Amino acid sequence: MIKIIQITDTHLCPPGRTIVGLDPAERLRTVVRSININHRDAAFCVITGDLTDQGEAGAYARFAESIADLSVPVHLLLGNHDARRPFRSTFPQAPVDENGYVQMSLDVSGISFLMLDTLDEERPGEGLLCPARLAWLAARLDRASGRPVVIFMHHPPFSIGLRWFDGMLLSNGAELMTLLSHHRNVLHLAFGHVHVNASGVRHGVSFSGSRGTCHKILSDPQAMQAEYVDQGPAYDILLIDADGVCVHTIDPAGPNNLIAREYPTADGRGSFEIIPSARVQRWM
Ligand SMILES: [Fe+2]
Ligand SMILES: [Fe+2]
Repeated sequence: MIKIIQITDTHLCPPGRTIVGLDPAERLRTVVRSININHRDAAFCVITGDLTDQGEAGAYARFAESIADLSVPVHLLLGNHDARRPFRSTFPQAPVDENGYVQMSLDVSGISFLMLDTLDEERPGEGLLCPARLAWLAARLDRASGRPVVIFMHHPPFSIGLRWFDGMLLSNGAELMTLLSHHRNVLHLAFGHVHVNASGVRHGVSFSGSRGTCHKILSDPQAMQAEYVDQGPAYDILLIDADGVCVHTIDPAGPNNLIAREYPTADGRGSFEIIPSARVQRWM
């Protein structure tokens, strides 16, 4: 299995600003440190949008500083809190398609990864894959024919069961899912935007949404307002081969104190070794 890391919704601000009392840069640096310690073997890391909170040049500069030490190759996508022009000024080397959208494809170990730009700067409340972006995707899906495909994007193309987000999805999600249904090789679709962990299957395609590094929302299906809770930053690792995908969420800030280890035994019940009071953070 190859390992891919998904970071999302980092919401960086210029220096001195916080979001609901949280420091997005500090939280992103915690994630970068954790990846450098534990996941240097990942094939790449993708950051699925809302890189900044308001799209200012100063926020992109801070974002760039915060990921500068990341020890695996990184690919950046845009979300509704981003702005294409300052992003491209800060990251002129970021791949774009022939129309300037921040989209790219990447083949690793026989899997095709397609990364989509769903930012609609005219109506940032929702996401969009305009005809040009959909045509790019259709061509890449045709080209990948026979190879499994994994898609990364910011906006979910369908409801994840939370009313709060139902008006903030990819506005032409049905069109995307129709296109994907014509290509039976789409293994998985991963998105950000929702600030909760969510996973399942829709229209026959498995999906996962990562809760992100910054302000986490409570998963209350009927709530018409978002309630943010004080939890640490998180990121996902996706373990992928041609047969499917396993997604694990990592909480590097813990608490991850090691309290015991379990070893296999012949009766299948395992044997515990209790770790005494000198508790160590296992995941950092
Ligand atoms: Fe976000
Ligand atoms: Fe978003």
